[in-house]
Amino acid sequence: MKIPLIPSSEITPKQAYLSRRDFMKAAGVVAGSVALVACAVPAGKTPPSATKIDSQAPSAEDVLNSFDEITNYNNYYEFTTDKQGVASLSKDFVTSPWDVEISGMVNNPGKFSVDDLTKKYPLEERIYRLRCVEAWSMVIPWLGFPLAKLLNDVEPTSSAKYVRFETIYKPDDMPGQKQSTYPWPYQEGLRIDEAMNDLTLLATGLYGGELPAQSGGGIRLVVPWKYGFKSIKAIVKIELTDQQPATMWSTIAPNEYGFYANVNPFVDHPRWSQASERRIGEFNRRDTIMFNGYSDQVSYLYDGMDLKKNY
Ligand code: MTE
Repeated sequence: MKIPLIPSSEITPKQAYLSRRDFMKAAGVVAGSVALVACAVPAGKTPPSATKIDSQAPSAEDVLNSFDEITNYNNYYEFTTDKQGVASLSKDFVTSPWDVEISGMVNNPGKFSVDDLTKKYPLEERIYRLRCVEAWSMVIPWLGFPLAKLLNDVEPTSSAKYVRFETIYKPDDMPGQKQSTYPWPYQEGLRIDEAMNDLTLLATGLYGGELPAQSGGGIRLVVPWKYGFKSIKAIVKIELTDQQPATMWSTIAPNEYGFYANVNPFVDHPRWSQASERRIGEFNRRDTIMFNGYSDQVSYLYDGMDLKKNY
């Protein structure tokens, strides 16, 4: 399974590239992409030891969204349901230091700091499409490492079939969690083979720098072939289990949001079509692509499954 490698500079429009350069400058980053990540780490934090820039562009037709677009139009219900209000409400949210606990059906459970994880697993730049179930999309240059690396080290037992993820519960710092409309904490889940797929990323950074609070810092999941709600933010718990985990959205509205939530233009949401999407920053709608364009990498996971039933 080989993913086409296209350097981000080749798919970045001039405008977005310039704003990226501005961001890098603001973060104190000089030229040279390999140096970027280490330099972008603010003083007082240990930079990641090894940094491999490994841009994986979805296609030459995709252009990066700007840092401003990515960090000012967010779904993060722990803060607010207003996409443009998340950035300001989360500006004082502390994302470092950050720990993740791994428990359940593993031989090596434990608590791991994001600082240690990013020292152990070289950060890769992965440029992925993000397709929200609400039918908007972006192209985002994440920094992170494959979840599979961490899972291999904690050694799931042979009984483990699923991975469950949980977001931090901190109602004093996350005003949305004071409202009982949603069953906090936010939870998500993947089948273990989905979790082990090389595309599945634990992201700790964005645009060559650290991961802003509104984007899911300290650490978030990115599963680019699934609707964005699977890409859970601010993860503090990862549990290996033999039961399909409950997820927040499928608990609230099981007829609208399934466990799998694969991007699928042929299965509409009960209240709207999923055949097309609005790319943030573009005027015309685009056709939505099966598995968000990642079929070559992931369709084998669903061989023989009825994707209309397993939505
Ligand atoms: N994770 C948590 N904890 N809370 C959320 O509200 N929203 C999800 C997902 N992860 C959400 C979350 C949804 S619906 C989407 S589309 C993506 O985050 C949006 O990610 P972005 O804001 O970085 O674009």
